[in-house]
Amino acid sequence: METQILVTGGTGYIGSHTVVELIQAGYDPIILDNFSNSKRSVLEQIKKLTGKEPKLIEGDIRNEKVLDRVFQENKIEAVINFAGRKAVGESQVNPLLYFSINVEGSIVLLRKMKEYGIKRFVFSSSATVYGDPGYDCFTESTPLSPINNYGESKWMVEEVLRRLVQAEPDWKVAILRYFNPVGAHESGLIGEDPSGIPANLMPFVSQVAVGKREKLRIFGNDYPTRDGTGARDYIHVVDLALGHIAALEALNKNDGLITVNLGTGNNTTVLELVHAFEKASDKQIPYEIVERRPGDVAAYYTDPTLAKTLLNWEAQRDINKMCEDTWRWQQMNPQGYPED
Ligand code: NAD
Ligand code: UFG
Repeated sequence: METQILVTGGTGYIGSHTVVELIQAGYDPIILDNFSNSKRSVLEQIKKLTGKEPKLIEGDIRNEKVLDRVFQENKIEAVINFAGRKAVGESQVNPLLYFSINVEGSIVLLRKMKEYGIKRFVFSSSATVYGDPGYDCFTESTPLSPINNYGESKWMVEEVLRRLVQAEPDWKVAILRYFNPVGAHESGLIGEDPSGIPANLMPFVSQVAVGKREKLRIFGNDYPTRDGTGARDYIHVVDLALGHIAALEALNKNDGLITVNLGTGNNTTVLELVHAFEKASDKQIPYEIVERRPGDVAAYYTDPTLAKTLLNWEAQRDINKMCEDTWRWQQMNPQGYPED
């Protein structure tokens, strides 16, 4: 029988790509999602892509009754927890929401897993836990110092996991710190579908290219980078999804806790990304330079060494491929997923 993996938040951006890769690797993903930031039609797209529609349970990760049902009705062997909220600005105005969903949600899930004897957990953390350490290449031992409530919420869950594994060493936990996920599946069938005005660079650029938005605002060109604009380690969402499968496999071999950065080890400035997107789409991206965005760090990227040695994983797709796949998804789905 295929190994059943519970994927919370499995209809979201990173979750849906991971579900596809799990199916293709021979796993049986079971999705728990409350559709607070995703659409049901993702499931049909996953079916088109893989030939299989994954089982779905609709509900909140904080709902113990729902979790009882999930764990009683299935033979789950591991949980990947993508469910959560991820907007830095929103976390500053609504901290309770962030600590409730991201922190309390993870704790309820872990408590229920323990009750049912399931002790394999993969957690979506973020490079945001490092804050602004004053240098730009982050290894897993770079000190943690989040600078907003979203980052704090990820740090808190990490801390819970570190203490849990210390007290109960038979848990197998992977903390994955993502750098900047972008791109879409190369089929153009699934991708990122932000609601409202995109806060992040790649979806905004893509909406400018397709004519949905007039121009990009570049937040500052006076950073100490190659061209003065902010630089990030963008990672293709399919590479990221494959990183989760590598992590599940690594957990089969190691007890305890592993903490790994998932990025490419390269960085791309805003202007470099704009030019790569222009090339991929054959469109001009009009832009203006405006003030720096408060809270932004100049530049950072991962040292990818540990991911290579511990997970035997390495990102394969470069910035051009990230832009090409984003553009294909944008063109095939100019309005994103259809409304439910
Ligand atoms: P997303 O919003 O597309 O996906 C999250 C999914 O979780 C959505 O389908 C949403 O409906 C669901 N969800 C939210 N709250 C829930 C709840 N209480 N119960 C059940 N389901 C719930 O986000 P994403 O980009 O796919 O991110 C996935 C995870 O990765 C998040 O935890 C996020 O914080 C983390 N992460 C994302 C990024 C990024 O830039 N996208 C970077 C680092 C870390
Ligand atoms: N940028 C612009 N114009 C825009 C949007 C972004 O110039 O309209 C610039 C930013 O200033 C930054 C770069 O593009 O230099 C990337 O910005 P994003 O908003 O795409 O990504 P961030 O690195 O700011 O944020 C991401 C995730 C957060 C996470 C953070 C830290 O979206 O959830 O990384 O890991 F907290």
